[in-house]
Amino acid sequence: MVHSWQATKYDEIFLPHQSWGDELIAQLPLSGGETVLDAGAGTGRDALKLAARLPKGRVLAVEASSTMLERLREKVDDSGLPVSVIEANLLQPLPIKTPVDAAISVATFHWLHDHKAVFSNLAEVMKGGAPLLADCGGKGNVERVKSAFRAATGRDPDGGRPWNFAGPEETAGNLAAAGFEVMEVRLVRDTIIFHDQMEHVAFLSTIVLGSQLESFPPEERVEVAATVSEAMGEWVVDYVRLKIRARKA
Ligand SMILES: C[S@@+](CC[C@H](N)C(=O)[O-])C[C@H]1O[C@@H](n2cnc3c(N)ncnc32)[C@H](O)[C@@H]1O
Repeated sequence: MVHSWQATKYDEIFLPHQSWGDELIAQLPLSGGETVLDAGAGTGRDALKLAARLPKGRVLAVEASSTMLERLREKVDDSGLPVSVIEANLLQPLPIKTPVDAAISVATFHWLHDHKAVFSNLAEVMKGGAPLLADCGGKGNVERVKSAFRAATGRDPDGGRPWNFAGPEETAGNLAAAGFEVMEVRLVRDTIIFHDQMEHVAFLSTIVLGSQLESFPPEERVEVAATVSEAMGEWVVDYVRLKIRARKA
């Protein structure tokens, strides 16, 4: 089952995801008529930005969470931009008939336990030579947040729905096995510093620890995130990003 995101809150708070998405979009060689798949499109930030650059093309926004899908559909309808919303699980073969010219994915793959399956499912719906550009949490990601969560709650941060923070070597192997030519897979440290504790707590409770906090009653979750923030002693999130550049062979 896919974690149920707080889609409205997700759109209201500061997200480093914006710059991760912009970075990928800027690397796509687009002429305006391509079909581009956004894997784990969330509420559609990048799908809409991409669609604005595709007057004769289309974005296929693939998403599985019902709360994200509801907000995504609203935003796509309001925009009038060429985005098709596809409700699908990236761990299963994708219901896409015509192969796409490119695929991107921002902050999604670390939620998926089987990268080999995800890469194969994407490869199946991509044209030969189509680029796959992705960013997700990588090996060593949010270690400080995890230790603070453990210290503050006594619970295992990987106990419920474990993250899949993969390293470059295994990722390159998974991509090659799925039929991709690997151009670059690397880890990049990207520590985010927040202005104040309120912002830090909102970010921890909505984004980083959303799934860990599901085991607490809803009315206690912000409080628990605040104790994690206290235990960290600094208003930071120690991201380590896995950056992927590959091409369907
Ligand atoms: C952190 S959000 C990132 C959303 C968006 N790409 C962004 O950067 O704002 C991760 C997204 O992946 C989606 N997701 C997680 N598991 C999925 C799966 N198995 N199939 C499709 N989408 C999935 C989640 O529902 C969520 O919208």
